Amino acid sequence: MAEDFFSVREKVVVITGGLGQLGRQFGLALIDRGAKVAIFDAQADGRRVAERFGGQGIGENLLVLSVDVTNRNSIEAGLRRVNATWGVPHALINNAALDSPPSAPAEENGPFESYPENSWDQVMEVNAKGVFLCCQVVGGQMAEAGRGSVINICSIYGLVSPDQRIYQYRRAGGAPFFKPVAYSASKSALLNLTRYLATYWAPRNVRVNTLTFGGVFNNQDEEFLRGYCARVPLGRMAREDDYNGAVIFLLSDASAYMTGSNLVIDGGWTAW
Ligand SMILES: NC(=O)c1ccc[n+]([C@@H]2O[C@H](COP(=O)([O-])OP(=O)(O)OC[C@H]3O[C@@H](n4cnc5c(N)ncnc54)[C@H](O)[C@@H]3O)[C@@H](O)[C@H]2O)c1
Repeated sequence: MAEDFFSVREKVVVITGGLGQLGRQFGLALIDRGAKVAIFDAQADGRRVAERFGGQGIGENLLVLSVDVTNRNSIEAGLRRVNATWGVPHALINNAALDSPPSAPAEENGPFESYPENSWDQVMEVNAKGVFLCCQVVGGQMAEAGRGSVINICSIYGLVSPDQRIYQYRRAGGAPFFKPVAYSASKSALLNLTRYLATYWAPRNVRVNTLTFGGVFNNQDEEFLRGYCARVPLGRMAREDDYNGAVIFLLSDASAYMTGSNLVIDGGWTAW
């Protein structure tokens, strides 16, 4: 039988923010293929866990832990639980992030000039420092073990500027709406954190790559969808399972020679 280059069987994978829309998808896809998944999420109450993973019959291959990625002690405590349950992880998906939804308070989505300083700090704290800390703690342990794969989740808004024209309909409605700056800046930071760590950890066989996504359908309003989809060559937002294949690719031997790269999956958003 042919070797399965894409196997993730028996791999222990830490997913930060794994109770969110995409993290749940990654968790299900990985468990379905025989991986063991530890979720580090700051909002890991029983109801949310049941909502996200209840009734899937995945019991012993899923560990959901209450971990704040901005807090080193919390990450270390989470990792100790993973170690005690399954040993040293094989992979880390830095997926937890803060973004301002269109429904956020007006000043969060207002003009650049008055974007609140504390919002900048909060977004940077989770999206950039949280990734740095998880890499130090979880990635550091994988480096010590001499193997691993780290995926840093980025966004098209970390590669190029948000296209503020697609939010024009909000401004026409009277609100001074702009997609805010902190998310973009925080996601850009990951591109070079990835390259830094890819070269730093290459001698210890830990691969580090960025995975960049376009927007995912999540019942956004009609006007937003019209503007967004017109801007995408493939003409639609991503389905929430559209990125699972790339995650499996980056965690498996199929990408054994890939490190320091950025895999962009965006329906063509950045192609024109
Ligand atoms: N959904 C999209 O359209 C889209 C597009 C491009 C990129 N992305 C990226 O994909 C990733 C997942 O996005 P999503 O839409 O599933 O997000 P989401 O908001 O649904 O989930 C994020 C999760 O992170 C957790 N979290 C927040 N702060 C945390 C902290 N300090 N410590 C631990 N966990 C914390 C939240 O509880 C939540 O479960 C993010 O990195 C996001 O930037 C998403």
